[in-house]
Amino acid sequence: MSKKKIGMWLYKNGGGEEIGKKIIKKLKQRDIETINDINLRYAIAKNKHIIYNDIKLNKELDLFFSYNAGEQTQYQVYLYQALSRVIPTINSYEAFALTEDKFQTAFLLRNHGVQTADYKLCHRDDTERLRTIIKKWDKMVYKPTDGWGGVGLTKIENENTLDVLLPFLNQMDLRFFYVEKFIKYDNTDFRVDIVDGKFVGCYGRKAGEKSWKTNITSGGSVFLREPNDEVVNLAIKACEVCGVDIGGVDIIYDMEKEEYVVLEVNGIPAFATPEQEKMGLDFNDKKIDLIVELIDKKIK
Ligand SMILES: Nc1ncnc2c1ncn2[C@@H]1O[C@H](COP(=O)(O)OP(=O)(O)O)[C@@H](O)[C@H]1O
Ligand SMILES: [Mg+2]
Repeated sequence: MSKKKIGMWLYKNGGGEEIGKKIIKKLKQRDIETINDINLRYAIAKNKHIIYNDIKLNKELDLFFSYNAGEQTQYQVYLYQALSRVIPTINSYEAFALTEDKFQTAFLLRNHGVQTADYKLCHRDDTERLRTIIKKWDKMVYKPTDGWGGVGLTKIENENTLDVLLPFLNQMDLRFFYVEKFIKYDNTDFRVDIVDGKFVGCYGRKAGEKSWKTNITSGGSVFLREPNDEVVNLAIKACEVCGVDIGGVDIIYDMEKEEYVVLEVNGIPAFATPEQEKMGLDFNDKKIDLIVELIDKKIK
């Protein structure tokens, strides 16, 4: 039997390069070889093959581990989708694509009894509906379904804000409006990392002074936070429903309904950065071990 071989594409910033080296080393100890830095952006498809640097990925790889949200391109994702049809990938393309879309994720989670923010989706021409919704909900959040980092999220406080916002939205050639009920919460969240159905680690994020978004890119900050069983089980269930082998689940506590809700499932949750490790986020090694174990299991 020939040696098992996997392909990997992992982000390099924020300590990613070191993480990658550790993963490769641990895989090697299990006699699994890694071809690193496979950016499908530079690959081509030719008949039945996806070729990168003269390597026929579909033929030579037993698995492809794709973990680089920052450098993702449409072309790269397109080939990832094709490759995922013929060899195992982590995450599966299907699960990855699902979690890239907030509406599709929330819809599926709700159908499996996982609590999310109340939401509504309506056709772009249905602006009257948005008026009805804001009257009922008081406050809502307009969300691009494919966004990240809190970018584009807009809080709509009343009908006036809606009137101001609508001309902008109408210019954007959207297909639909996705809005969530604005949840009253303490401006902190839980980010819970799961690999292969197992709890990896948890930290909290707190929104900046004048913000209601916990994203670091929106001025939020990370803090040490112990999860409780409820939060962990919610994250595990959310990952299971979405079919992600690796997931980072954003959870907040709804103070009115007095329950935890899943805000989103991230299919490529970052490892703790060296600075965060210094702060005490110490789950990287556990995460690496669980990922190596998962890869080994998948290629057997
Ligand atoms: N329905 C909501 N009610 C209140 N705050 C929200 C709601 N949805 C999102 N937020 C805040 O905005 C942040 C970003 O939202 P999220 O859905 O995770 O999108 P992104 O992919 O941009 O991170 C969350 O971390 C949270 O702080
Ligand atoms: Mg988020």
